[in-house]
Amino acid sequence: MIQWTEAGLRRSAPWRSVLGAPPPARVVVADDRTKADTAYKLACEGTALLWQGDFHNARQLLTAMGRRCRPAAPGSGFHRHRQAQSQRARTLGMLLIPYDADHVVPLRRAPRRTRGVRGGARPARAARGGPAARAARPDRRPRVAGQGRARARARRPHPPPHHGVFSPIRGEYVDLVAEAPLPADRLAFDVGTGTGVLAAVLARRGVRRVVATDLDERAVACAAENVARLGLAERVEVVRTDLFPPGRAPLVVCNPPWLPAKPVSPLDHAVYDPGGRMLRGFLDGLAEHLEPEGEGWLVLSDLAEHLGLRSRAELLEAFERAGLRVAGRLDVPPRHSRSRDPGDPLHAARAAEVTSLWRLTR
Ligand SMILES: C[S@@+](CC[C@H](N)C(=O)[O-])C[C@H]1O[C@@H](n2cnc3c(N)ncnc32)[C@H](O)[C@@H]1O
Repeated sequence: MIQWTEAGLRRSAPWRSVLGAPPPARVVVADDRTKADTAYKLACEGTALLWQGDFHNARQLLTAMGRRCRPAAPGSGFHRHRQAQSQRARTLGMLLIPYDADHVVPLRRAPRRTRGVRGGARPARAARGGPAARAARPDRRPRVAGQGRARARARRPHPPPHHGVFSPIRGEYVDLVAEAPLPADRLAFDVGTGTGVLAAVLARRGVRRVVATDLDERAVACAAENVARLGLAERVEVVRTDLFPPGRAPLVVCNPPWLPAKPVSPLDHAVYDPGGRMLRGFLDGLAEHLEPEGEGWLVLSDLAEHLGLRSRAELLEAFERAGLRVAGRLDVPPRHSRSRDPGDPLHAARAAEVTSLWRLTR
């Protein structure tokens, strides 16, 4: 539960944090009169602000609070950068918006529906690390959700993510999967499907049956919904399982989380792979899930190498240990704006980053 005082009355709300954040101990009401400096100071001190003003003003306030968060100094390294990021997420996650049982945000100029677990007001903060909560006004049973920058990310024609599911905002790796020569069009596995984007690309390329897996049930629901919406449900089966579905396929695709580091929120599991567990699991199990002439496509950026978190030699050794041979590699440089921003704390690594599709055979 979270509790706050509004117009002299004590109110409370059941807390449901989609991203596993604990409920804030102190909550105050904030509205269009709340100044960014005040909001930022309260948030830094751990006081959550329950927004009662105009929805768009909340977004502006969040942007203004974000400008006050100090980024890690350029060149200060990956761990400092993550610390700064997680501090920023904690601070911005202190701005809460209410939403009711029908996922309607009862605020002026709010989007009509939040679309359930998607956090459909596109509350990026909730999706990236901030809290989401259900609130209780006995009359309307509203909820409260961490609010964030609502940015139209999807310039590319890819399926939208559900709340908390890895969003394929970087299109270059999707293009690699769209362009690599298909070894066969009968069957493919997409391991760790997320939104289902790569499964959908393969199906649209003519692969007649794709079995897509994910361990995260939100990802499974999201992928299933997306493939149905794209009219691909007859070709793409989405199953919840650890890594591979049973059997073998002539093509097995996997885009594991790229950085071997500890996740701190549920969404982080799609970005950070502690100890490279998923990467190792995929490589170690690939040979026994590939048909004799089959190919495994591993999509991986070398950002971890530039950050000193993994070496190229370690990756090549992992291929060898798993009995895999590199049949080819397609590379693509980053297109996202951060790779060109010298002020980004990880600029050197981001500017040098290359994303590869490794074609692996038994
Ligand atoms: C980097 S995301 C890639 C998502 C999607 N394939 C794409 O390219 O946009 C990695 C995905 O792997 C999933 N995942 C992590 N560990 C897994 C496992 N052991 N088995 C299946 N999926 C897993 C995560 O839930 C996440 O959706």
